[in-house]
Amino acid sequence: MALETLQKEQTLKMRKQLIGQSCRLFFSHDPVKIVRAQAQYLYDENGMQYLDCISNVQHVGHCHPHITQAAAAQMELLNANTRFLHDNIVQYAKRLAATLPKKLSVFYFVNSGSEANDLALRLARQYTQNEDVIVLDHAYHGHLTSLIDISPYKFRKLAGQKEWVHVAPVPDTYRGLYRADHPNPAEAYANTVKNLIDEVHKKGRKISSFFVESLPSVAGQIILPLGYFQKVAQYIRAAGGVFVADEVQTGFGRVGSHFWAFQLHGEDFCPDIVTMGKPMGNGHPLSCVVTTEEIAAAFTDNGVEYFNTFGGNPVSCAIGLAVLDVIEKEDLRSNAVHVGNHLMKLLRELQAKHQIIGDVRGVGLFVGFELVKDRVDLTPATEETALLVRRLKEKYICLSTDGPGENVVKFKPPMCFSKQDAERVTEHIDQILTEIEGGL
Ligand SMILES: Cc1ncc(COP(=O)(O)O)c(C=O)c1O
Repeated sequence: MALETLQKEQTLKMRKQLIGQSCRLFFSHDPVKIVRAQAQYLYDENGMQYLDCISNVQHVGHCHPHITQAAAAQMELLNANTRFLHDNIVQYAKRLAATLPKKLSVFYFVNSGSEANDLALRLARQYTQNEDVIVLDHAYHGHLTSLIDISPYKFRKLAGQKEWVHVAPVPDTYRGLYRADHPNPAEAYANTVKNLIDEVHKKGRKISSFFVESLPSVAGQIILPLGYFQKVAQYIRAAGGVFVADEVQTGFGRVGSHFWAFQLHGEDFCPDIVTMGKPMGNGHPLSCVVTTEEIAAAFTDNGVEYFNTFGGNPVSCAIGLAVLDVIEKEDLRSNAVHVGNHLMKLLRELQAKHQIIGDVRGVGLFVGFELVKDRVDLTPATEETALLVRRLKEKYICLSTDGPGENVVKFKPPMCFSKQDAERVTEHIDQILTEIEGGL
C-alpha cells in the first residue's frame, strides 16, 4: 500500500508527537524535508536542490546505481541467518584485508559504529585482562552505555566520568595545550598520555586500551600531529594496553592519500584494533571491527559464542563490496585529494580576507574552518558560526558545525563532491561573512 504523502507541516507535527525529542533535526529552527537525493544533491518536497556537504555516510554519493542494484539483486536472491556458510562475507573480508596492514586480519561484522566500538572494548578487555581506557577530550565513540562512558563529548553533560576512564588532552595544534609554534607537538601530546598512564598505575589500576578517532571530528575536525600515534602506541603497549583506531568517520578513503586515516602517520604504525562504520554501506547499516589473530584468539578463548543477528549478512556484504567497487572505479580517493585541496585553497584565500576565519584545516574531504572573535585569544565566534550555517541553508547549501565552542564549520560531503561545488560554497561563505562583518 502506497503511503500518503504528508504536507511538511503535518510531517513536523507528527514527528513532534511520535519521535523522541532528543532525536534532533538539522536546522531545527526550520527543518528541511528531503524526499529524494542523487550524488551530492538533496531535493526537498518542492523539488529544490540542496548541495550536501554533510553526508559522510552516503560516501560514494546518494542512491548510487551500482549500490542500489547490488542491494536489490542480493535481496532478491538471499538474505539469510549469518550462521549459514556464504561467500559474500569472506569475499568482503578479503577485499577489506587488502586495504589494511597484514597484521589486521580477523574481521567481525556488526551494524553500527557504536556496536563496533563496544565490541572493540570487549576485545581489548578480554585480551589485556585490564579494564581502564584512555580517551581524548571531546571524543565521541558512540551512543551505547559503554561508549557514552568513553565519550567526554557526551559524559560531561551526563553522569560524569567513570573511575576506569581517563581523559588526555586533544592534540589540537590551533587552540590546544601545545600549538603550531611548539617544536614537537606530537611528542608533547604523547607525553600527556604517558603521564596519565603513570597516574593510573599509581592508583593501582591497569590500562586495557587507548581509543582514538583517527581524526577527531566532533572535537572540531582536528588534524593530529604526525608521529603522535607511534609514540602513544609505544606507551600504551608498554602499559599492557592496546591501541584502538576509530575510523567510523574517517575510513574508506575520505583522506584521499590513504584508505585509512591512521595510515597518515606512516607505514611503521599499525593499530591493534580498527573500527569502521558510517561510509561502509553508503547508508545501509554496516560496520566492522578488525583486529589481530592474537586478540581474536583471546576473545575466542573466553568460550562464549559471538553471535550478531544482522552483522555480515549477504545483503550487507554485497553492498559493502559494491561500495569498494565504486571507490576504486570512480577513483574517489583522487577526487578527495584534488577537490579537498582546492576547497582548502579557496578557504585559505577567504581566511586572508576575513579576520573572523581563524583557522582552516583538513585532509582530503575531511575539512573544517574555525570562526573566532579575535585571532589572539581565539574566542569562539559561536553565534556568527550558527548564523553563517543558517544563511548558507537559505542559499540551499547544507553544512554543520561542531567543536567545543560550536565554532567549527565542517565539510564531510559525499566523495563525488566537485571543484565547482567547492567554488559555489566558498563564494557564498565570502558573501555571507562580508554581510556579517558589516553588521547585517
Ligand atoms: C567517530 C565515531 N565513532 C562512532 C560513532 C557511532 O556510530 P553510530 O552512530 O553508527 O553508532 C560515531 C557517530 O557519529 C562517530 O562519529
